[in-house]
Parts: sequence; structure tokens; C-alpha cells
Amino acid sequence: MRRGVVIPAAGVGKRLGGETPKQFVEVGGETILARAVGVFERNDRIDEIVAVVSRSRVEETQTTLRRGGFRKVVAVVEGGSERHESVRNGVAALSLADDDLVAVHDAARPLLPAETLDRALDAAEDTGGAVVCLRARDTLMKSVGAEISHPNRRDFFYVQTPQIFRRGDLLRAFAQAAERGETPTDESSMMNAFGATFALVEGSPLNFKVTSPEDLLLLRALLAYGVTNP
Ligand code: CTP
Ligand code: MG
Repeated sequence: MRRGVVIPAAGVGKRLGGETPKQFVEVGGETILARAVGVFERNDRIDEIVAVVSRSRVEETQTTLRRGGFRKVVAVVEGGSERHESVRNGVAALSLADDDLVAVHDAARPLLPAETLDRALDAAEDTGGAVVCLRARDTLMKSVGAEISHPNRRDFFYVQTPQIFRRGDLLRAFAQAAERGETPTDESSMMNAFGATFALVEGSPLNFKVTSPEDLLLLRALLAYGVTNP
């Protein structure tokens, strides 16, 4: 069995703001995208990596990743205006068979621990699919209009990435979502609607997604403190 990775990095980073989309911001001498790619480059079980960026960034990304010595990067392809289009383009660029595994990992999660990735790969090999998520830790409160309730936090998870599925299942689910006119925000929701089964793999608070300015501050502080990918 072979294992490929798609790194969607074609977003604009509206919530972070600033001139440069967050995945191209340098932290500790390396872009956030390069850091995310590095976690997969260093894992012996990963065969191929595809990065998906906006059209205007394709060439510079090819150059930076080549200079960075990322030998598993087989393609840098153009993304779409929605994340799921970017992921679909990335999956198409991997030279894998239908039974091979594809991991999708946000470029904006540069601190994915190596051991979380390994557990996710183990689970996907056993089950056919794996979604890394974080158990809710705080008390949850639901407020809809005037009605307030407190759902049991044991039933709730924050969904992270990587999300790993068989290539054939992913392609069929993308086709089904397109037919139904759906625009899934991540693969876990799409694969659930498709009826796929997958394991939930406990992630790490370090695997946070750089979304807001506070997240970027936190990332810089962690790197300055010597935290990388345990
Ligand atoms: N992404 C992508 N193509 C898109 C939208 C998002 O490849 N059309 C990628 C982003 O680059 C990011 C990941 O999907 O690595 C997760 O998305 P998110 O954190 O929402 O990033 P942005 O969409 O760029 O940020 P924002 O929603 O704040 O604009
Ligand atoms: Mg977004």
C-alpha cells in the first residue's frame, strides 16, 4: 500500500489578515507551509506529497520546496476558490491506486506531532479511514435564540487534520458531493455524508490551525521556545 498527502494551501487567510496568506508567512526562518510539508517529508511511510496553492504562487512554491530539499513533493498544483476544490485538484495529481491512502492536511497546521501522524496512519490502515480530532475539554453551552442548553462535552470533538481515506473513496465522495451541489468544508463531513467509516484519532493542542493573529503569536512563541513536532 502506498500513502500520499495533499496539503491544501490555496486559501487567502482572511481571518488572519495581512498582505501575505498565512501559509506563506515565515516563522523561525521557514514558511508555515514548508513546516507542514516537512512533517510528512520526514515520515518514512509517506511516499508522495502534493501542495495546492493559488495560481500566482505555483512557481515560487515549486522553487521554495525544491530548495528546501523536500524530495517527496511530486507536484505543486493550482487550487480553487473553495477548499474542497483545492483538495480535489491535489488528489488528482497523486499517482496512487484506488486502494492507496491519501492524507489531507491543512498547510496552516505546522505543528502536527510526528506521533499523531503515525497513529492516524495506523488507524487508517486498520479501518480504511482516520480523522484526527480533539476531544472538547471545556464545558459546552449551546445558545440558539433565547434557548440555552449544556450538551455533554463527551459527545463533541474539534475536527483537525490529517484526515486520511482511500483514494477511490475520496474520489467517489467528491463526485457525489458535486452531483448534489454540496460544498463540504472538510473531508470528514463529506466522507460521513458519503457513508464511509473512519476512526477518530486523538490529536494534539499543538496541532492548532493558524487562523487568527493570536494563533500566529502563539506559533512564534512556541517555536522560540524550541517546540517543533514531537
Ligand atoms: N484552503 C485551500 N483552498 C481554499 C481555501 C482554503 O487550499 N480555497 C486551505 C488553506 O490554505 C488552509 C486550509 O485550507 O491551509 C484550511 O483553511 P482555512 O484555515 O480556512 O484557511 P483560509 O481559507 O486561507 O483562511 P480564512 O478562512 O480565514 O480566509
Ligand atoms: Mg477558510
